[in-house]
Amino acid sequence: MVDNIILIGFATTGKTQVGRLVADRLGWGFLDTDDEIVRKEGKPIPDIFNQEGEAYFRRLERSILVTACQQEKNVIATGGGAVLDPQNRQLILRRGMVICLDAAPATIYERLLQDTQNATSPNIRPLLAVADPLKRIMELKTQRQPYYAIAHLTVNTDDLPVESVADEVLKGWRRWSQHGDVSLTPAAEVKTESRNCPIFVGWGCLEQLGSMMRRAGLAHRAMLVSDETVLSRYGERAMASLKAEGFDPCALGVPPGETTKSIENAVKIFDFLVEHRVEREDAIVALGGGVVGDLTGFVAATFLRGLPWVAVPTSLVAMVDASIGGKVAVNHPRGKNLIGAFHQPGMILADVQTLTTLAPRELISGWAEVIKHGIIQDPGLFSFLEENAPQLMALQPEATTEAVARSARVKARVVSEDEKETSGKRMLLNYGHTIGHALESATGYGHFLHGEAVAIGMMGVAHLSQRLGLVGKDIVERQRQLLQRFGLPLSAPGVNMELVLKAMELDKKTREGAIHWVMLRDIGEVITLHRVPQTEVIAVLEELLKS
Ligand SMILES: NC(=O)c1ccc[n+]([C@@H]2O[C@H](COP(=O)([O-])OP(=O)(O)OC[C@H]3O[C@@H](n4cnc5c(N)ncnc54)[C@H](O)[C@@H]3O)[C@@H](O)[C@H]2O)c1
Ligand SMILES: [Zn+2]
Repeated sequence: MVDNIILIGFATTGKTQVGRLVADRLGWGFLDTDDEIVRKEGKPIPDIFNQEGEAYFRRLERSILVTACQQEKNVIATGGGAVLDPQNRQLILRRGMVICLDAAPATIYERLLQDTQNATSPNIRPLLAVADPLKRIMELKTQRQPYYAIAHLTVNTDDLPVESVADEVLKGWRRWSQHGDVSLTPAAEVKTESRNCPIFVGWGCLEQLGSMMRRAGLAHRAMLVSDETVLSRYGERAMASLKAEGFDPCALGVPPGETTKSIENAVKIFDFLVEHRVEREDAIVALGGGVVGDLTGFVAATFLRGLPWVAVPTSLVAMVDASIGGKVAVNHPRGKNLIGAFHQPGMILADVQTLTTLAPRELISGWAEVIKHGIIQDPGLFSFLEENAPQLMALQPEATTEAVARSARVKARVVSEDEKETSGKRMLLNYGHTIGHALESATGYGHFLHGEAVAIGMMGVAHLSQRLGLVGKDIVERQRQLLQRFGLPLSAPGVNMELVLKAMELDKKTREGAIHWVMLRDIGEVITLHRVPQTEVIAVLEELLKS
């Protein structure tokens, strides 16, 4: 990783002032590409635009950026439009930490007005020379937002004085340089007969994808598959990292959503791999949530009888659950995950920072699985979640990275002991899932997110365990409180009891006659029971479903 800080963002977000301050404090050089252009050309930017045209300006900007990026220990403030050029984006991502300074359109408008009055910035006046400047700013911002989103860190400057913005930038830089450069040590490892799969967990470690893949022994080409939402946010950073390590990558986007996990989409990926003449030693990288991981992993398991693949999970569910364990599958119209295989990835890299863009409800749903991991095997993790709930919900970097790493460790340990679900150990991961799955099925899969249904299921089975005298009320209460603190639902009022029972009956059939109930004994301890009195189950369900 290169020691440079590159500031991007709209006009008036303070890139120049903040950049100077940061450079001073680090004892680094400072360069503002707009100022440099003005100096070189000997005239203000509007004149360059008018006389030589925008293309000329962009060429100048690019060559200045290239030169600046060749050096190290520089803070570089870029012009507001520099990120529109894909080559510029690739360049800055490879040559340092990219930080976006952001502000609301109204703030930008106010600052522009003030700047014009003070006559300090002749370069930005054209923005005001239109009928409705605020509207123009909003439009431009919306248009540029996807490019600003490549930043490793975004600092909002609305209510912050320049010094505080510089503090935030420096803080971000320290964190990034600490975690960013040194090679990551695996937070966990899946060890099975077929393969050892290290799991790397870090904050802002996406840039290390290429180098970590090299270290994991992957040496040929890499094809990247992602869903369109994740691709638009993180595709460029992942691709830049793969390119920098010579993986000669190509990317394919699939639509987001569960329906994408289909055999038709697997065929589309097969076509893509055939088209690019992918060979046995090449790798496929799955960048995204569990949908992308399951689908891409399935393709990797079957194409050319098996290719190496790398999971880069970007949802909490994928980081702590879906990417770990080698179960890969697509759905059949008659059932979820009906067509699949066991195919361990060669490596998993979880950049926890990507969770900052995940929808809040998806995030909360993911916490249910983290809590579940604490309950089934790691009382220390459970206490950690109790002690740090507000920090975790706010995605505070250190705490969140720790929680994700610990949770991934639980899943890795369980699947290492029972890769193919033969010894019964892996079944412990189904805590809360018997009722959870039935709730999802009874509501047609559209109502609850998986984690929400599992949270309710965990409450149901905890009460069932209490009724059977397996666990005390205090433990059930601790579980309830933690689920509640993470904003998870605890009951399912109004869901149809008959449908829930029917779904559980079906579940029983697919498991050869008996439901394997994973019951609660203590925080960190669960056991499996096969015969639980139906009357007790119904009593618990009545409580859960009562309106
Ligand atoms: N293989 C396994 O062992 C296993 C285990 C659990 C779940 N799964 C599977 O995983 C799937 C669910 O995974 P999921 O919850 O990740 O769903 P998902 O992949 O559909 O992701 C949820 C949504 O979040 C978006 N998203 C993901 N990361 C983002 C980010 N960083 N920023 C912004 N948006 C982002 C996605 O585009 C999608 O719209 C299901 O298909 C399930 O069957 C598999
Ligand atoms: Zn689950």
